[in-house]
Amino acid sequence: MGCQMNERDSETVAGILHCLGYQPAQTPAEADFIALNTCAVRAKPEHKVFSKLGELRRIKQERPQTIIAVLGCVAQVAAQEIARRAPYVDIIIGPRNYAQLAQAIKTVQRTSAPNDPVIVTDSHKTIPEALPVRRTTPVSAFVNVTYGCNNFCTYCVVPYARGREQSRPVQEIVAEVEQAVAEGYKEVTLLGQNVNSYGSGAGQGCPSPTVMSQEEGYGFADLLAEVSRVEELERIRFTTSHPKDISVSLLAAIAGLPNVCEHLHLPIQAGDDEVLARMGRGYTYEQYRHLVEAARERIPGLSITTDVMVGFPGETEEQFHNTLRAFEEIRFDQAFMFKYSDRPGTRAAEMPDKVPEAVKQARLEQLVALQNETARQINQKLVGKSFEVLVAGADAKSPGKVRGRTRTNRLVIFPGQERLIGKLVQVQTQEAYLWGFLGEIAAQS
Ligand code: 5AD
Ligand code: SF4
Repeated sequence: MGCQMNERDSETVAGILHCLGYQPAQTPAEADFIALNTCAVRAKPEHKVFSKLGELRRIKQERPQTIIAVLGCVAQVAAQEIARRAPYVDIIIGPRNYAQLAQAIKTVQRTSAPNDPVIVTDSHKTIPEALPVRRTTPVSAFVNVTYGCNNFCTYCVVPYARGREQSRPVQEIVAEVEQAVAEGYKEVTLLGQNVNSYGSGAGQGCPSPTVMSQEEGYGFADLLAEVSRVEELERIRFTTSHPKDISVSLLAAIAGLPNVCEHLHLPIQAGDDEVLARMGRGYTYEQYRHLVEAARERIPGLSITTDVMVGFPGETEEQFHNTLRAFEEIRFDQAFMFKYSDRPGTRAAEMPDKVPEAVKQARLEQLVALQNETARQINQKLVGKSFEVLVAGADAKSPGKVRGRTRTNRLVIFPGQERLIGKLVQVQTQEAYLWGFLGEIAAQS
C-alpha cells in the first residue's frame, strides 16, 4: 500500500526474504510468510490494513505456522494498536528497521508457540545501506536519495512514521543507479519525501555532511548532475519536490541535463495563504505561482503535477475558492486530490473548526471536475504531436497494444509488439483522453 517509497521498501523486503531462501507464493493461503506494507497517510489506507488483517486471521487459523508481518508506516505509528487488535500478527516492523527483519523472522521461527509479536520500531537514525533488493517495477528503478522528513507539515504523519531526514551518500546512490542500469533499467526514479533538500539534513556521507544551503553547498542539483553521467541511463525522474526548497540551480539542471525528464511533481496542497500558513508549508500562493512561472520559462515542455487537499481544518468557502482559482491560473497537467483526513498525533488533528465530511466531499468533487476539464484541454492540444515513449509493457486491456510513458509522464497506448518493452519509441498521439493518449509509432529512435 502507499507511495513509491513503500514500493521500493517492499523490494528490499523481497530481497531479504530471497536471501533467507523464500520464494514467491501464488496465493496468501499457501504462503509461509505474509507481509502487509502499510500506509498511514490518511485514515482510509489505515482502515484497509485492519480489514486485510481480518482476512489474514483465517489463514493463520488454518496454517498457524504462517508468519504474518506488518511493515511500513502504520506499523511504526500504531504498533500497539495492531498488537491489540490482531494478536496473531508475529512481526511489527517500521520503515527504518528492515535491517532487523531477518533477525525478527528467525526469532519467530525459533518460538513455535503463540507469542507476543516481535515489535521493531526503534531505529529512526540509521540509513540501512547494503540491504538486498529484488526489483519488481517494470521500467523505472526506484532509488532512495533521502529517508524521512523534517518539515512537519501540520497535517502529516510522515515525519512520525519515517523519522528525521537523512541523505544517502552520493556514491551509494550512484552505485545503485549503475546496478539498476546493469540489470537493464533505462530509467530511474530518485525518491525522497523532499528530494530538493538533499544534502541539507544530517547526511551519512555527502561530501560535507554539515548544513548546506541549496545554492552554496552540495545539493540535489549536483546529485542530478552526477547521476546523469551514468552511462546508458536514458531517463531520470525524481519525486517529491517541496516548493520551498526548489533552487534556481535545480531548474537549470532539469533544463540542461539531457536525461533528466521535464516533469516536476510539486505539491501545492492549497491555494490560500492562510490555509498554507496553518499547514506550515513555508510559502505563499504568490511564491508558488512565481516558482511555476520560472520553471515553465526555463524548461520548455515542462509538465507540472501536484497534490492538493480540500477541507483542511477551518477552510472557509472563500479559502477553498482560492484553491479553485489557483488551479484555474496554474493549469496543472495532473493532480492528486484528497480530502483532509485527521492523523492522530499531528498538530492539525488538534485544530478547531473541522470541515464536515459532506462539505469536504462536495469541494473535492468541484475541484476534480475543474482539474479533469483542464487536463482534457491540455491533452487535446497535444494530439498529433510526436513523443519519446519508454515502453513499459503490454496493455492488458487491448491485445496487440503496448503502453509507456513520455518524458513528461503522460501515458500513451499504441499498437506494438512485446519486443518493444523496455525500448524508447517515437509515438505520435492520435486521440486524447483524461488518462493519456492513444497513438501510433512514428519512427523508432
Ligand atoms: N489528509 C489528507 N491528505 C494528506 N496528505 C498528506 N497528509 C494528509 C492528510 N492528513 C496528502 C498530501 C500529500 C500526499 C502524499 O497525501 O497531499 O502530498
Ligand atoms: Fe508513503 Fe507517507 Fe503512506 Fe508512509 S504514510 S507509505 S511515506 S505515503
